Formats: sequence, structure tokens, C-alpha cells
Amino acid sequence: MKRRNFVTTGMVALAGLALILVGQGCQKENKQITLGFSQIGAESEWRTANTKSIEESAKAAGIDLKLSDAQQKQENQIKAIRSFIAQKVDVIAFSPVVETGWEPVLREAKEAKIPVILTDRAVDTKDDSLWVSFMGSDFVEEGRRAANWLVEKTKDQKDPVNIVELQGTVGSAPAIDRKKGFEEVIKDKPQFKIIRSQTGDFTRAKGKEVMEAFLKAEGKNINVLYAHNDDMAIGAIQAIEEAGLRPGKDILIISIDAVKGAFEAMMAGKLNVTVECSPLLGPQLMTAVKDLMAGKQLPKRIVTEEGVFPMETAAQEFPKRKY
Ligand code: AHR
Repeated sequence: MKRRNFVTTGMVALAGLALILVGQGCQKENKQITLGFSQIGAESEWRTANTKSIEESAKAAGIDLKLSDAQQKQENQIKAIRSFIAQKVDVIAFSPVVETGWEPVLREAKEAKIPVILTDRAVDTKDDSLWVSFMGSDFVEEGRRAANWLVEKTKDQKDPVNIVELQGTVGSAPAIDRKKGFEEVIKDKPQFKIIRSQTGDFTRAKGKEVMEAFLKAEGKNINVLYAHNDDMAIGAIQAIEEAGLRPGKDILIISIDAVKGAFEAMMAGKLNVTVECSPLLGPQLMTAVKDLMAGKQLPKRIVTEEGVFPMETAAQEFPKRKY
């Protein structure tokens, strides 16, 4: 009798233990995922759309998002990443304002066993085990697409084509790569010449200011403006109009992003073409975070698919634009 009681009690205890273990397993699976995201800032229409996409997708995916705005400063991003490590978030993601200088903080994240996903912009590190995946556009290809459009557009022209270039933030991946891709296409074509090139820091205000300086220095010598983003192009359009010239006609304007503001400028005949760079990375990022937490391996590189929109297509495309 006593023995039977002993066996029964043992079996009940074992069943209880099994239930607790199963429960704990479920709890682990359903555990709220915390994602620390360090955003560059709010320098452009593109960036605002990118932040919105990340916030909305985190909410839809039930992920607890800790979002920090670095106001275009690398030191603020480094501080944010350190604070995410101290808070023991599950995953860190960030869009690096510049390419270099990330090694130490990424090493700290790795030592804390917190995986890091790069979104939108890449880093330049010797050790690429410091981050698990990079998702975003191919900026070199965007530069090539911009130049290919220009080559095609001016194919019957014999005169020299003088180009001014508004570069993005100094040291940032899109500024480096968009310049590289564009130059790669025109380098064997001597009629294309970049006569001035300066940073406009991806903002409208700076784009306008630098274009004013270009116009002062070169006047009617400028045939083409190549802006590394739409915001700088939109700022430059104002400067061109204030100088008494017609943007889109007297000066051909090429830019990158394909935000709604660019479509409006194209429909007004003031911008000739925009090369798409999609900021809608939120859904992809949340899927990647969940996959990581489920123990799956992420591809090292996830490239966003994008198109080119010349002004002739603007009115038809505009209603479909999501950013
Ligand atoms: O990194 C993407 C770039 O950053 C966008 O082209 C620009 O508008 C933004 O600020």
C-alpha cells in the first residue's frame, strides 16, 4: 500500500515537472522579442518613411521596439547601441550614418551575444562576423542607373555635358557608392564632365545652399544636376528657379529615392528622373528578427528590388506610391 502510494506520488510529481518544462518551453517561444533600433535621424522624406515603416511593422509583428534617433551623429548611434546592450535587448538593428568606426561597439554587442542586423546602409569592418545580415539597396547600381539614364537621354547630343553633383553625407555608404556607380558609367565617355561636386548632407536646405554656390560659380555652364537624393534635388530646384533658370529644362535634374515629393516635382516638369531606393524595410526587418529568434540563419545580404521613374511616367505612377 505504502509502496503503491510512493509510486503514484512519484508519477504525479514527474507529470507536474513535465508540465512545468513544457510550459517554460512555450513561454520561451512566445516570449516578447525586444528590438533595439538606432535610426540615423530625420534628414529626408526617405528617412521619415523608413522610420514609419519600422514602427508600423514592429507593432504589427508584436515586437517591442526601442527606437533611438541619432540626429545624424555617429556618437549618438554608438551610445544608443551601448544602451541596447545594457538593456539586454534580443536583437539590435541600425542604419549606420557613416561606414567606418563601428568595430569596437559591434564587438561589444557580439561579446554580449546580441545579434546585429544592418539596415539600409553598410559598415566597413574587417571582421564581417560582427553583424549577421545587411538588408537594403544596391547604392552602386543606383548610381549606374542614374548615369545610364543620362547617357541615353543625351545620346544625340554632340556638345559637352557639364554635370554638378550634390553628394550625400560625407563618409556614408550611399554617398560613396552612388558617386562610384555614376562615375563608372561616364568614365569612358569624355563629353560627360563633373565640373563641381560637394556634399548637401541629404537635406533640402543644404541642397539649396550648395546649388546656389554652384550657380554663382558656373552660371549657365551647368547642363545637368545629379543629386544623391530627392530632398537635395528639391532644394536645388528652388535655387535654380530663384536664379531665373528653368529646372528640368535649362538644367536636367537626376536624383535618387523616388519619394512622393520627387513625383510632384516631375509632374510639374521640374525634375527629369528619379531612381528608386525603397525605405520600406520594416516588414523585411521584422521577419528577419523573428527568424533569428527562431534559430534560423539569415542570408548575409538581402537586396531590395527597385526601379527607375522618368518624368513621363510620373502621373501614372504617383497614385501607386507608398512613400
Ligand atoms: O541611406 C539612404 C539615403 O539616406 C536616402 O537616399 C536619403 O534620402 C537618406 O537620407
